Amino acid sequence: MRPPSVILTLPVIAACGCASGRGAGGGPASTPPGAEQTQHARHGDAGGEAAHGGPAHGGPAHEGGRHGNPGDLAAYVARMTDPERAQWQKPDEVISALALEPGQVVCDIGAGPGYFALRAAGAVGTAGTVYAVDVEPEILAALRARIAESGLGNVVPVLALPGDPLLPAASCDLILVVDTYHHFPDGPAYLRRLIRSLKPGGRLVNIDFHGWETPVGPPVDRRISEEAFRRDADAAGLEVIAALDLLPYQYFLVTRPRPTP
Ligand SMILES: C[S@@+](CC[C@H](N)C(=O)[O-])C[C@H]1O[C@@H](n2cnc3c(N)ncnc32)[C@H](O)[C@@H]1O
Repeated sequence: MRPPSVILTLPVIAACGCASGRGAGGGPASTPPGAEQTQHARHGDAGGEAAHGGPAHGGPAHEGGRHGNPGDLAAYVARMTDPERAQWQKPDEVISALALEPGQVVCDIGAGPGYFALRAAGAVGTAGTVYAVDVEPEILAALRARIAESGLGNVVPVLALPGDPLLPAASCDLILVVDTYHHFPDGPAYLRRLIRSLKPGGRLVNIDFHGWETPVGPPVDRRISEEAFRRDADAAGLEVIAALDLLPYQYFLVTRPRPTP
């Protein structure tokens, strides 16, 4: 069956009432998408390849691209989907640890070509949905191809803005962010935006590289360490409810919005 392959664009979102918080949280609501791309490219250029193109995923260095991505997106996609990544990324163990239930909605932010999104889609089953959110159209094209190849009908690609995932409010049981947090232009602001997309009782999971040298991962100066992420999460109103020691090179934090007293 052909998957929905819906790429939500800004006008569609506006028409469906999604992203209701745009304009209320320091985000890019009033900024034209073109201007945002220009602004975000600045972030990406400084070590753009470094984010993922160097030793991070076993590839050579390239010129920096947009959104903190390397310039050679085909090579980048190949590295992200390389079966050898499983040795350290342990995707099956990660999905198992997420304890997803059939029918749940997973929002994978910075989904890339769907390394986790496609696996999560299997875990939530046909009654569930995975919104696979990314800001790079070329990477979403690779994701769409992989969705079609998989035959999965419950993965919905979403073309986001750099500072806004363009998800409806209260729509996600689980928000998953893997190796992506350091790409966001303003981490705490982005987290606050994500919180609005969590259903009551929903969780936000961040998996990212430790702040020290590891055999894979972006250069250390591009990383957001566990301690730094914990500070950002706290500032955004999230509390850490579990820290899983599952992965050799990455921390794995499960958070939820801090209950109001
Ligand atoms: C290192 S890849 C990780 C992909 C995927 N999570 C995985 O583990 O395979 C980071 C992804 O985040 C995307 N990205 C960068 N900035 C973003 C933003 N502001 N919002 C959403 N996605 C973003 C990139 O295009 C890229 O696909």
